Amino acid sequence: MQNELILNYDPKSVISETIRTLRTNLQFSSVDKTLKTILVTSSMPREGKSFIAANLAVAFAQSGTKVLLVDCDIRKGRLHYIFGSHNQKGLSNLLLENVEETYKNYIKRTKIENLSIMFRGVTPPNPSELLGSEKNKELISILKKQYDMVIFDSAPVNGGLTDSLIMGRLVDGVVIVSAYKKTPINVLKNTKKSLETINANILGVVLNQMNTSSQQYYGHFYE
Ligand SMILES: Nc1ncnc2c1ncn2[C@@H]1O[C@H](COP(=O)(O)OP(=O)(O)O)[C@@H](O)[C@H]1O
Ligand SMILES: [Mg+2]
Repeated sequence: MQNELILNYDPKSVISETIRTLRTNLQFSSVDKTLKTILVTSSMPREGKSFIAANLAVAFAQSGTKVLLVDCDIRKGRLHYIFGSHNQKGLSNLLLENVEETYKNYIKRTKIENLSIMFRGVTPPNPSELLGSEKNKELISILKKQYDMVIFDSAPVNGGLTDSLIMGRLVDGVVIVSAYKKTPINVLKNTKKSLETINANILGVVLNQMNTSSQQYYGHFYE
């Protein structure tokens, strides 16, 4: 496992504490409605979607929640790398098969108790079509029954891809990650607008600050 799973290797760090707070906020944001599927997205590449999705999944797992982390960034996802593995078959392959019969073959346990993962799989020519398929809907409803929480790491919203907007419609809630002081505010606003257009349930924005010089990492959660 790579050391990006900071909640696992440095649970007492500031960022770990912050991600646990995010977990708690998400738990409280769902008192009146079910929150079983969460999409983690952002405006642009490299804002920290995969980092936050992976660590949030660990945070839920550590609190005893049975979690599945799914890489639905079918084009560029790297969750397999974060979990120390090569990209093997995953979501893109599964969506070509009989979902109900075979989904279990694509789920791997991790070394972290309560946490399983599904890789993105081989990059197909038509990721948006796969994500928008009836099979994907069927899969999500099956996974909801099998897990307490399913977290989807996804592609960025800006840049002409519809992948995350398609996913945003299928999940219970969306968390937007934004690179603190790096992502232009109008870009973030556009992302929010795009997600609102498809009636996504936006849970909040995580301001992800990567201060590599001081080796301190912060995140803030805003509703
Ligand atoms: N809060 C953070 N602290 C430390 N490193 C981070 C943080 N957020 C992101 N990173 C690092 O920045 C890089 C890009 O993050 P990543 O999660 O892959 O972005 P995205 O999925 O949005 O493209 C990765 O190397 C990741 O480990
Ligand atoms: Mg990513």
